[in-house]
Amino acid sequence: MYIRSFADSDGDGVGDIGGIRARLPYLVNLGVNAIWINPFYPSPQADHGYDVADYMDIEPEYGTLVGFDALVEDAHGRGLKVILDIVPNHTSDRHRWFQNALSSRDHPDRAKYHFADPRPDGGPPNNWTSAFGGPAWTLDEKSGQYYLHLFAPEQPDLNWWEPSVHQEFEGILRFWFDRGVDGFRIDVADLLYKAHRLPNSPPGKAPPAGAAGPNYEFRIGDQEEVHEVYRAWRRLADSYEPRRVFAGEIWLAPDRTAQFLRPGELHMAFTLMDAPWDALAWRARVDAVIAAGRANEAPVATWMQSNHDTVRHLTRLGGGVVGTRRARAALLFLLALPGPLFVYQGEELGLPEAEVTNDMKQDPQFIRSGGTKAARDGCRVPLPWAVGQPNSGFSTGEPWLPQPAGWDAFAADRQEGDAASMLAFYRRALALRGELAPSLDGDFRWRDAPAGCTVLERHAGSRGHLLAACNFSASATEIPVEGEVLLASDTEARVTDGRLALPADSAALLWRR
Ligand code: NOJ
Repeated sequence: MYIRSFADSDGDGVGDIGGIRARLPYLVNLGVNAIWINPFYPSPQADHGYDVADYMDIEPEYGTLVGFDALVEDAHGRGLKVILDIVPNHTSDRHRWFQNALSSRDHPDRAKYHFADPRPDGGPPNNWTSAFGGPAWTLDEKSGQYYLHLFAPEQPDLNWWEPSVHQEFEGILRFWFDRGVDGFRIDVADLLYKAHRLPNSPPGKAPPAGAAGPNYEFRIGDQEEVHEVYRAWRRLADSYEPRRVFAGEIWLAPDRTAQFLRPGELHMAFTLMDAPWDALAWRARVDAVIAAGRANEAPVATWMQSNHDTVRHLTRLGGGVVGTRRARAALLFLLALPGPLFVYQGEELGLPEAEVTNDMKQDPQFIRSGGTKAARDGCRVPLPWAVGQPNSGFSTGEPWLPQPAGWDAFAADRQEGDAASMLAFYRRALALRGELAPSLDGDFRWRDAPAGCTVLERHAGSRGHLLAACNFSASATEIPVEGEVLLASDTEARVTDGRLALPADSAALLWRR
């Protein structure tokens, strides 16, 4: 959940911890078993919380530690785990360590960051670019040295070669684990260590820092040393009862990502399912991730379709009626796979990417790049909770990002009583997954399927088999299957005489004894 936009309890137009707590019953009804909350730490909000000024407190507009403890207790009482977001690659420039670092070249905290002398011509130490546009270096005029930031200048990168950084972060993990936090999502988990001695990227051989993409010949991050950090974090997590989990945000090719999931490292690393809507493309993506995991003795993959950085998948999948049909089908496809699925707030309401006019956009990536990089505001627009209330029930005050006209149409309360709604469908699908998951083993196989379709099969021991059939094509099809439909994304999907009729852009889960 993107806390700024989930639910506001105090009328300042910004979501908060009280808002999350008030909506715990909604989350339990939805059928999720854990929540991951984006950063809520004290922050100047240069990157909406991914610029942390203090890792062991809470930004007042989001709440207090006392309120957070109450949230954890309440969530646990309802069977929900609480996962926080940790940002170990960079701090805010307002963080005490960075302020100390700027105060004097001799301050011990200066070693926590990457400061380097200019090139002889006065330019930055190397040619790296920031993921948010422009050079990855900013001159500290007082000392005459540059500091490194792979994101905004307000987000100086930490230097993980410095032992005190490790000690600080182990203390931060303990601080939250001791409060009952069940785990962390790790921001840009692969980037902590940079290429030795910060060399220039050979032209055309390196991605902009933090960029998604295939393996590049030259890697700014993804250095071997980072794995020892996560092995140490894992030992710490395993010393708690119940054990705590880590989910890495890693934008590397599957074989590199799986390295982080080797025994004794992270539990999860996200795979964003953003392949084009095509049976072969989706199957290939799944196969690549699963194969990379197996080659590294890694646990099952972790799936997601949208988050606070992506265009909402309903829109990516075509938007409108088609995008909605595909989003329903995609949910069944992904829920049938082994491994956790992360749902981004609002996808259960069928939210499309919202239109935000340029003058209202707040994403630093958009602003800093002069509009050449896409704004992430459209997926961060505050949720619609209730029809006919100010700001669709999100807040009594003006929301920090404007909601588009007609947002009420997606309101949670409007969907509550409608069996055909996206919310009702998500609830049925997640409940079904909850029932089936304990009896399914971690394996699966693809069965033969007509062109444009996939059929996946999983075993439930002596109880039977789960089949998941998905028709990615624009025309209806029939698939020979044995079994009965448990849940389908389209009411027209049914089995007659051993053949499953599957309309265009739809999917069904079936059970075969
Ligand atoms: C990934 C986060 O999800 C994104 O929102 C943020 O801008 C960057 N990391 C930098 O922290």
